[in-house]
Amino acid sequence: MAAGKGTRMKSQKPKVLHRLGGRALAQHVIDTAARVSARLVVVITGHGAEVVEAGLTPPDGLQLQFVRQMPQLGTGHAIQQAVPVLADDGITLVLSGDVPLTEAATLQALIDCCAGQALALLTLDMPDPTGYGRIVRQGEAVQAIVEHKDATPEQRAITEIYSGIMAVPTRLLRGWLARLDNHNAQQEYYLTDVVKFAVADGCAVQAHRIGDAAQVAGVNSPLQLAELERVFQRRLAEAFMTEGVRLADPARFDVRGSLVCGQDVDIDVNCVFEGGVRLGDGVRIGANCVISNCSIEAGAVIHPFTHIDGEKTGVSVGAGALIGPFARLRPGAQLGAEVHIGNFVEVKNSTMAKGAKANHLAYLGDATVGERVNYGAGSITANYDGANKHRTVIEADVHIGSNCVLVAPVTIGAGGTVGGGSTITKSTEPGSLSVARGKQVSIANYQRPKKKS
Ligand code: UD1
Ligand code: MG
Repeated sequence: MAAGKGTRMKSQKPKVLHRLGGRALAQHVIDTAARVSARLVVVITGHGAEVVEAGLTPPDGLQLQFVRQMPQLGTGHAIQQAVPVLADDGITLVLSGDVPLTEAATLQALIDCCAGQALALLTLDMPDPTGYGRIVRQGEAVQAIVEHKDATPEQRAITEIYSGIMAVPTRLLRGWLARLDNHNAQQEYYLTDVVKFAVADGCAVQAHRIGDAAQVAGVNSPLQLAELERVFQRRLAEAFMTEGVRLADPARFDVRGSLVCGQDVDIDVNCVFEGGVRLGDGVRIGANCVISNCSIEAGAVIHPFTHIDGEKTGVSVGAGALIGPFARLRPGAQLGAEVHIGNFVEVKNSTMAKGAKANHLAYLGDATVGERVNYGAGSITANYDGANKHRTVIEADVHIGSNCVLVAPVTIGAGGTVGGGSTITKSTEPGSLSVARGKQVSIANYQRPKKKS
């Protein structure tokens, strides 16, 4: 169910598209459904239907079908829109698009309770059950779910609540939904009324009670979104640490995509990983790094405050490379083994061969840099003529002095040296020294002008 408005988010964006761990809330739900071998995932949309439908992607091997609920007349009405596309021989698992952290194992246990026969409800004890549907039992047997607004004071004292998640044989659900009415406090068609019908029909009702509130917690406000984000990140952090990854502080660690770590990886505080990131054995990430869509080979060290974003093209950092502090690697930066990139150096769409160094305040864009090149402080490749981008080739063992401008397209021949402050517009021969700057003039005993009295 993803048709609701989400008024308390106070956002233009439909609630189920707000992101947790870099993924839309409803995408978490869909991805978890895929892990309990769902045959078909039906997403019920309403508020912002078009945006929601465009914002969700089917997991591998699974079909997503959208049905629209307009207007939104309650959760029972929502499911009524979906049943026409469901097959009678299946189990329907009802999930909410704003409840992102339910674990696949929990859903599987609920499906097992249903076993194609029973109505299985996921329930939970809550110290403060205000607002939730209460599980009304007679002895042990579940009799009904009563919504908070319809509940008597005695029923409101019940602390076992319905999570909003149920598993139900589709053929039975279809019949029960046809019997719903909206004669209740909210004048809505309540899905929860199917419990009464199940009881009346002599169908077993199973309550599968869990203890972990985060698994059924919904997001209604920015505060709740942030709280669940921390729960999600904490779980990930613990999973990484179980695998041997050393996090300086699991509370200051954020993964918004997929992170894969080798052995003996160290990650300092306040690092954010986005998109697909792979860290090889022994990689060390300093504090306050943001690393996106990047592959970092064994033994490389990323010093603090480094920003790496490979976007669609990716960034690769070779084994034993030293990056940062305060480095910026942009899409297409492909750094070989033992490359050094120092503070305030930006690299974009450039390859740097083994052992090449750019240690201070420099820009390498659209460049091919050979082995062992030393690229001086303050030097840049002028890769853009205002209309087109051009390449700079710096062959092996070149030494570029400080504050040079290499105006592309240009090639600096192997082993060559470029004197500091040069603006190089013509390619240079291997082994040559090139200097392209005004000649120094010195005037002996120069007298500075004096102020008139
Ligand atoms: C529902 C349950 C309540 C349970 C609670 C758990 C009903 C009648 N009540 O209450 O027993 O304790 O969830 O959180 O089911 N939605 C639609 N279309 C609609 C109405 C809702 O798609 O017409 C979607 C919402 O976007 C949301 C989900 O259904 O994802 C639940 O709706 P919500 O209004 O939050 O249900 P509650 O009233 O909280
Ligand atoms: Mg409601």
